[in-house]
Amino acid sequence: MSSSFSLQFALVLFILYFKCLFISIESQASSLVTDKEALLSFKSQITTSGPLNPLSQWDQNLSPCNWTGIVCDSRRTRVVALNLSGFHLEGSISSHIGNMSFLSSLQLQENQLSGPLPDQMGNLFRLRDLNLSQNSLNGVLPSNISKLTELRVLDLTTNRITGAIPTDLDRLVNLQVLNLGRNLFIGTIPASIANISSLDTLSLGTNNLTGTIPTELSRLGKLTVLDLTINHLTGTVPSSIYNMSSLVVLALASNNLWGRLPYDVGVTLPNLLVFNFCFNQFTGGIPGSLHNLTNIKVIRMAQNRLVGTVPPGLGNLPFLEMYNIGYNTIVSTGDDDGLQYIITSLTNSSRLKFLAFDGNPLGGEIPESIGNLSKVLGILYMGQSRISGNIPPSISQLSGLTLLNLSYNSISGEIPPEMGKLVELQVLDLARNQISGRIPSNLGDLQQLNRVDLSGNQLVGQIPSSFQNFQRLLSMDLSHNRLNGSIPKGFS
Ligand SMILES: *[C@@H]1O[C@H](CO)[C@@H](O)[C@H](O)[C@H]1NC(C)=O
Ligand SMILES: *[C@@H]1O[C@H](CO)[C@@H](O)[C@H](O)[C@H]1NC(C)=O
Ligand SMILES: *[C@@H]1O[C@H](CO)[C@@H](O)[C@H](O)[C@H]1NC(C)=O
Ligand SMILES: *[C@@H]1O[C@H](CO)[C@@H](O)[C@H](O)[C@H]1NC(C)=O
Ligand SMILES: *[C@@H]1O[C@H](CO)[C@@H](O)[C@H](O)[C@H]1NC(C)=O
Ligand SMILES: *[C@@H]1O[C@H](CO)[C@@H](O)[C@H](O)[C@H]1NC(C)=O
Ligand SMILES: *[C@@H]1O[C@H](CO)[C@@H](O)[C@H](O)[C@H]1NC(C)=O
Ligand SMILES: *[C@@H]1O[C@H](CO)[C@@H](O)[C@H](O)[C@H]1NC(C)=O
Ligand SMILES: *[C@@H]1O[C@H](CO)[C@@H](O)[C@H](O)[C@H]1NC(C)=O
Ligand SMILES: *[C@@H]1O[C@H](CO)[C@@H](O)[C@H](O)[C@H]1NC(C)=O
Ligand SMILES: *[C@@H]1O[C@H](CO)[C@@H](O)[C@H](O)[C@H]1NC(C)=O
Ligand SMILES: *[C@@H]1O[C@H](CO)[C@@H](O)[C@H](O)[C@H]1NC(C)=O
Repeated sequence: MSSSFSLQFALVLFILYFKCLFISIESQASSLVTDKEALLSFKSQITTSGPLNPLSQWDQNLSPCNWTGIVCDSRRTRVVALNLSGFHLEGSISSHIGNMSFLSSLQLQENQLSGPLPDQMGNLFRLRDLNLSQNSLNGVLPSNISKLTELRVLDLTTNRITGAIPTDLDRLVNLQVLNLGRNLFIGTIPASIANISSLDTLSLGTNNLTGTIPTELSRLGKLTVLDLTINHLTGTVPSSIYNMSSLVVLALASNNLWGRLPYDVGVTLPNLLVFNFCFNQFTGGIPGSLHNLTNIKVIRMAQNRLVGTVPPGLGNLPFLEMYNIGYNTIVSTGDDDGLQYIITSLTNSSRLKFLAFDGNPLGGEIPESIGNLSKVLGILYMGQSRISGNIPPSISQLSGLTLLNLSYNSISGEIPPEMGKLVELQVLDLARNQISGRIPSNLGDLQQLNRVDLSGNQLVGQIPSSFQNFQRLLSMDLSHNRLNGSIPKGFS
């Protein structure tokens, strides 16, 4: 009795086991078939203008696990990744993609895909990485995107996606990177984003966003990158934002923001490496505490309403790559020479690539130490700054310069012939000064020049014949001088 019972029991178990195995094999098989069909549907909507079409190698007789750009799980039962970045793919994304329910990574960045994101993408509930940046996708961001609760990365940078940023994106509770920059998003920044506590990077730059910066964003305790540049944001920056000590990049340039810059921002944001507040209406002085951030790389405050002097500590920034305070009302102190201070201090920043303090009433003479600025300095804007005195010949040591703008000052003396050593120079603007003497023929050595403006000075003599060597010249203005003679032969 008991043995026949156990035999029956074993049989039942045996049958159940086989049934399960069978069902499981069947479902796995049909699932890979589903993936294959979805991929073939995807392929049917794609062409490529690139030299190699990876989709042409998708042999229908092989398992899709063997196709280019496809990754399957280790048992080769389902497709888990589709990675076809940078193949010049054109066309739209098939809605069948929503059937690839084991997909965890979808990387189609750097192609020319167009059309909308299919709603069905909301069914890819295992998706962790979604990178569709640098395409031409349009339409709105489907609200079903917020069903992808496993997402770590949502990168849609550089597309043509429009409409509002969905308010229920905060359902993406694991999201670390939200990059929606360089699209056509409109409306306000949803305060609900502040609920995505895992967020590390929030980039919404270059869109059409309006309204104010939500105070709630300061709750994002892990945020390192906050980029809201080039939008139509208004109002003051909530003071709690200046308390987000995890921030490494704070970029709010090109909006309509105002308010005093807090003097202690370098204390409350001790990890800051990039501070970009250009093109707004900020008031107050340059926060001196920024010069206490010894690792900082980028300080940009151009085109605001800042006043006062350049604070101390500028000589302590060895990693500084960019310093831009142009077009404010920064002055020199009475006895101390602001120009001398800025330039001499920055000779300690051996990685400086970009320096601009134009459009400020700084005054003073250019110090000899300008030649000790970094060898990688490419761009130097010093126009419209009430600079007087001569151009020091040491400027010729700046061998990496591609743009030099000293226009609209009161610079006198002659152009140092040594400037012919600045062989990387593409733009030379010395217009509207009181520069006298002859144009040194050495300037003809500047073979990369495409723009020269020496107008509005007191230059005499002839245009050097060496100027006919310029191969790349697009414009040259020598007007309003006392030059004579003819334009050199062969000058085209
Ligand atoms: C498909 O890929 C597997 C694993 O890499 C390999 O063993 C097999 O030979 C491939 N099949 C064909 C037809 O290329
Ligand atoms: C995607 O493919 C490209 C080129 O084959 C490769 O360089 C890149 O590392 C891949 N990315 C991922 C996330 O697998
Ligand atoms: C896959 O998706 C498409 C479009 O969303 C749908 O029509 C189709 O029935 C789905 N299922 C399979 C097994 O292909
Ligand atoms: C989008 O989500 C809604 C609500 O969850 C659902 O009804 C709809 O079927 C989804 N659409 C697709 C195409 O998955
Ligand atoms: C998405 O792809 C682009 C282009 O390849 C890359 O620069 C970017 O870092 C990727 N995004 C993320 C979050 O990895
Ligand atoms: C954030 O989440 C909390 C709790 O889930 C909720 O009460 C609140 O409304 C959410 N905040 C926003 C701005 O959506
Ligand atoms: C973006 O905003 C500007 C100015 O408010 C407006 O002229 C333009 O039409 C907007 N573009 C889109 C795509 O909404
Ligand atoms: C900023 O942080 C300090 C110290 O934690 C705190 O006292 C202050 O209230 C905070 N300010 C804002 C506006 O959050
Ligand atoms: C910068 O640091 C120095 C030395 O630690 C300190 O005395 C000074 O107050 C700081 N300046 C600002 C503006 O925080
Ligand atoms: C350059 O750095 C050195 C060493 O940190 C320092 O002693 C010096 O004062 C700095 N020079 C300027 C001009 O700030
Ligand atoms: C430039 O640097 C050199 C080498 O460090 C130094 O000898 C010279 O005095 C400096 N020149 C100026 C004008 O600061
Ligand atoms: C040089 O600077 C002046 C004054 O700041 C500006 O008007 C001019 O456009 C600049 N020239 C170039 C070539 O950038």
